[in-house]
Amino acid sequence: MSNCQPAILQAIPPLARYLVYTLIPETDPRAALRALKTAADGERTLAGLGQSLVTALGRGIGELRAFPEFSGRGIDVPSTPAALLLWLRGADRGELVHRHREFDGLLAGAFRCTQVIDAFTYDGRARRDLTGYEDGTENPKGRKAVAAAVSSRKGIAGSSFLAIQQWEHDMRRFETMTRRQQDHCFGRRRSDNEELDNAPESAHVKRTAQENFEPEAFVVRRSMPWAEGGRCGLVFTAFGASFDAFEAQLKRMTGEDDGITDALFRFTRPLTGAYFWCPPVKGGRLDLSALGL
Ligand code: HEM
Repeated sequence: MSNCQPAILQAIPPLARYLVYTLIPETDPRAALRALKTAADGERTLAGLGQSLVTALGRGIGELRAFPEFSGRGIDVPSTPAALLLWLRGADRGELVHRHREFDGLLAGAFRCTQVIDAFTYDGRARRDLTGYEDGTENPKGRKAVAAAVSSRKGIAGSSFLAIQQWEHDMRRFETMTRRQQDHCFGRRRSDNEELDNAPESAHVKRTAQENFEPEAFVVRRSMPWAEGGRCGLVFTAFGASFDAFEAQLKRMTGEDDGITDALFRFTRPLTGAYFWCPPVKGGRLDLSALGL
C-alpha cells in the first residue's frame, strides 16, 4: 500500500473543481496549512503545494521546481505558477460549491483563490476527451502506477509531483478536419480506440509513447474535460515520481528534440501550466512533516 494521496491512484470522479490559490503577501501560511492538513484527506480533496509556498516556509523539496516555458514553431507553452492547488473530487456540483467555500474560509488568513475550473467526466467509463477520443488508455496500472507516480525517496516517500495545464480546444477547427485527419492527430481510431500503425510522426501517441523515451517516461494521467460558457477543453494532469517524465514528453510535443510539433496543437493550446508537490498522507491527513508542520 502506498501512502500517497489516494486520489492519484483512483479513477477520475464524475465531477471535480480545481482551485488555484496565491499566497497573500506578508502573511504566515502555517496556521492555514495546519488547518488544511486535516481538511484535505487526499481522496475527496487532493492538495498540491507550489514552489513559492514551500520557499515561503524556508524549506525546499528537491524535485519541486517552477514549470518551464516552452516555445515551438508557432506555439507557446506558458508557465503560470501558483502557491496551492486543490482538486475537489465528487459527484454533486452543489456539494463541490459548498466544499470550495469551506476551503476559501479555512485558508482566508493567508491564501486567495485566483482560479476555479469546473470539470467533469465525459461518457462514463470510456472517459473521453471532448473530441471524443478515449483518454487514459495507456496509463500504467497497479504497482506500475505506483512506481510511475509516487516517490519512494527517503524523507518524502509517498509524495507525488503534479503537472497541470488547462488546455482550450478550438472545436470548430477540429470539426473542419476529416475523421481520418482527426485520427491521425491522435494516432488512434476514435471508433474503437485502436492505435494506428500508419500514423504520422506528429501523432500525439507517437510523440508521447512512454516506453520510447530513454529512460522510459511513465506518468499517471488523470485529466478531465472542462467547459464554461462557450469555451471548453481539457484539464491535463500528470502525476510523477518527479517532473522528469512529463518534461521529456512535453519537450517532444513541442518539437524541441526533432522539430516535429504534436498534431494536437492544430486545434488546442495550453492556457496555463504549473507544478505542485503532493505530500503523502498519514492517518487520513496530509503529512507535512517534510515542511516541519
Ligand atoms: C489537450 C491536450 C491533450 C489531449 C486531448 C490528450 C489526449 C490523449 C489521448 C486521447 C491519448 C490516447 C489514449 C491514452 O493512452 O490515454 C493520449 C495519450 C497520451 N498522452 Fe495526451 N493529451 C493531451 C495532452 C498531453 C500532454 C500535455 C501530455 C504530456 C506532456 C500528454 C501525454 C500523454 C501520454 C504519455 C499518453 C500515452 C502515450 C503512450 O504511452 O501510448 N498528453 N493523450
